[in-house]
Amino acid sequence: MDKCHSAPANHVNKQVQEIAANCHHLPKRYIRKQDKEYGPVTNASASSLADLPVIDFSLLTSSPLELNKLKSAVITWGCFQAINHGIESLFLEKVREIGKMFFHLSADEKKKYLKEEKDVEGYGNDIVLSDDQVLDWNDRLYLTVLPKDQRKFRFWPTNPTNFRDVLDEYSCKMELIYEVVLKSLARALNLHEDCFLNQFGTTKKCARYNYYPSCPWPERVLGVKPHADSSAITILLQDEEVEGLQLLKDGKWVGVSVVHDALTINVGDQMEIGSNGIFKSPVHRVMVNSKKERMTLAVFCPVLSDQVVGPVDELITEETPRMYKNVAYSLDYFLNYFQQGGRPIDACKI
Ligand code: OGA
Ligand code: NI
Repeated sequence: MDKCHSAPANHVNKQVQEIAANCHHLPKRYIRKQDKEYGPVTNASASSLADLPVIDFSLLTSSPLELNKLKSAVITWGCFQAINHGIESLFLEKVREIGKMFFHLSADEKKKYLKEEKDVEGYGNDIVLSDDQVLDWNDRLYLTVLPKDQRKFRFWPTNPTNFRDVLDEYSCKMELIYEVVLKSLARALNLHEDCFLNQFGTTKKCARYNYYPSCPWPERVLGVKPHADSSAITILLQDEEVEGLQLLKDGKWVGVSVVHDALTINVGDQMEIGSNGIFKSPVHRVMVNSKKERMTLAVFCPVLSDQVVGPVDELITEETPRMYKNVAYSLDYFLNYFQQGGRPIDACKI
């Protein structure tokens, strides 16, 4: 039986995984808007894959050439694939495995970690802030992993049993990657290497496992609707084989390929602001697959909630005047503008 027929008209409280398993029709709330509603963009052909620059992390401190490659990647794409980052392949497999094991638990078991309606932390889906909001075809497990005193362990699964240890170890590795990226970006602009690290202060690390069930109507939904990340940077561990992420580049959607063991790193709005607009926070979205599930792990690195973000002083010159106001770019601030349909960063432009 199609359980959706007896369910209430709004599917807001359902997990996408349950809908995918039980529904024979697509609930209205998931039907995506047409691309033109997001601005003048051309729809991507499924085969259009981006030639995203691949950066060898082990060379960033010794090779000016590699640093330059990073700089141009972040100026033109806002995004790159990092290889030789020092995290073992086997460990990355484990990080994916604990996520998949979690999403494959029974609905009741997962609901022990259910988030509160107006919060992001925990298991669930998109925060619903308006009645006409189109819902994303994904379920999430969102956990603040650093600083350690901000962890809310009631949302951290104990099943699989190694979940907490593996995620804890991964968080420490993300802190190191974050530092390498921020130092490299500063050096790429001839700034003191600690310039961005100091500008942002301690940043949080928020891990979000994204689970995209396979979908019988892949053209009619989006895994995640178009957005840019609010963070300083985001470090994405992609599914090992299923693609889906697309970037908006020169008015066209282009797909990001899966590079074995790479971390896909993008700058977010806070870095665009900090760099006075030199580095671009890319608009991106996620497509879903009709046959295969997909799982990714995004680690967002945003400033602490009360931290004000602004362009670093050295980048404000007569030729390159200040482009952004100083602003407390918190998640609440971001979501508020995002739900109104615009890009939150536009509200900070001078
Ligand atoms: C995100 C995001 C991309 C993906 O979580 O903000 O853009 O491929 N994820 O899951
Ligand atoms: Ni994103």
